[in-house]
Amino acid sequence: MRIVSPGGEALLACRRVSDNSIHVVGARPNFMKAAPVIRALERRGIEPILVHTGQHYDARLSDIFFEQLQLPRPHHYLGVGSGSHAEQTAALLLALEKLFLEVRPERVVVYGDVNSTLAAAVTASKLEIPIAHVEAGLRSFDRSMPEEINRVVTDSLSNLHFVTSPEAIGNLAREGVSVSSIHFVGNPMIDTLLAFQERFEADRIREELGIEGPYGVVTLHRPSNVDDAEAAARVVECLRRASKRVTLIAPLHPRGRARLEAAGISQVAQVVEPLGYLDFMSLVSGASVVLTDSGGIQEETSVLGIPCLTLRENTERPITLSQGTNRLVGTDPDAVDEAMHDLGSLQGRGVPPLWDGRAGERIAQVLADEISDAGSRR
Ligand code: UD1
Repeated sequence: MRIVSPGGEALLACRRVSDNSIHVVGARPNFMKAAPVIRALERRGIEPILVHTGQHYDARLSDIFFEQLQLPRPHHYLGVGSGSHAEQTAALLLALEKLFLEVRPERVVVYGDVNSTLAAAVTASKLEIPIAHVEAGLRSFDRSMPEEINRVVTDSLSNLHFVTSPEAIGNLAREGVSVSSIHFVGNPMIDTLLAFQERFEADRIREELGIEGPYGVVTLHRPSNVDDAEAAARVVECLRRASKRVTLIAPLHPRGRARLEAAGISQVAQVVEPLGYLDFMSLVSGASVVLTDSGGIQEETSVLGIPCLTLRENTERPITLSQGTNRLVGTDPDAVDEAMHDLGSLQGRGVPPLWDGRAGERIAQVLADEISDAGSRR
């Protein structure tokens, strides 16, 4: 395992490096992680091939993130769209195999734990293309989460593992991953947060949404919370308890919105459309509390110092519990009540190691070293 320190840019910045690595993104949480890596590669004169699978296709889940995060237009858009896991994964495998056979990339870089990540890793490995996984080694140890399966499979197939947090190293080592493939680089999603933080405008978004007084932000989209009526009723009861203390604003992902509305979410929270990156982070930055079942938001709130109540039984991001502002409350209304009374205790103990805005640089450095090693072998 190596802890990578940024540097070496000067060497690479003065010449363009030919690279036909493919970076695959597909769903909203991928975009914040890929943007700093792509930018750091570009600073080194490397222009990787960017592929958008089209897993997320709504402008509010996709286009707006490309614009705001200044991601380059994808070289390839595969348009796979939605479906059951089998349908979506099958469409991804077919489209990615065709593309990889055409391009014959030297490496495929995948991000996070969505179905696009899994499919790109499986396709690349069958074609014997080396894989780099950004955000490797996170584990919830809960195989009922589709993302956990995606994480385990992707890591087992990857040749380079970029980890955001020290416990990920142990998780990978226990699964037999060679420690020489693991690079502790920090958190690229936090690079994005720190790069854009100056543009978070809590007052503007508060005014635009007509929010008065202290407020909490709600996001819910996990299948375990929104895919059946009983689960949706439970989380809405949790929100009802929280709403006794603060106004709740819920920018809802299209998945599960109908079920949450049927369970009465609109009576306890102001439901709004999904927000772009800057509006969402502006809203979070002014909040008294966030109630969520997202993974990434547990990390973002930890860095911003905003108390986060996670409506899940487990987290693949335990560092947000030990060092950050996160607390697991499950979907127990009493636990939500208790936590809402005690938000002051969720202060956090500082930002986790290497969440310093330079993860993209560290990842780019390792990838650039690999490219120049491959070049000198040719
Ligand atoms: C996916 C990821 C999840 C991530 C989430 C962030 C997987 C297994 N899950 O979940 O880890 O936290 O993205 O948003 O990859 N839909 C739209 N418009 C879109 C995309 C989806 O309306 O642009 C609706 C469709 O009804 C679709 C449903 O959302 O069937 C689910 O989309 P999907 O991409 O399968 O998973 P997410 O729930 O978005």
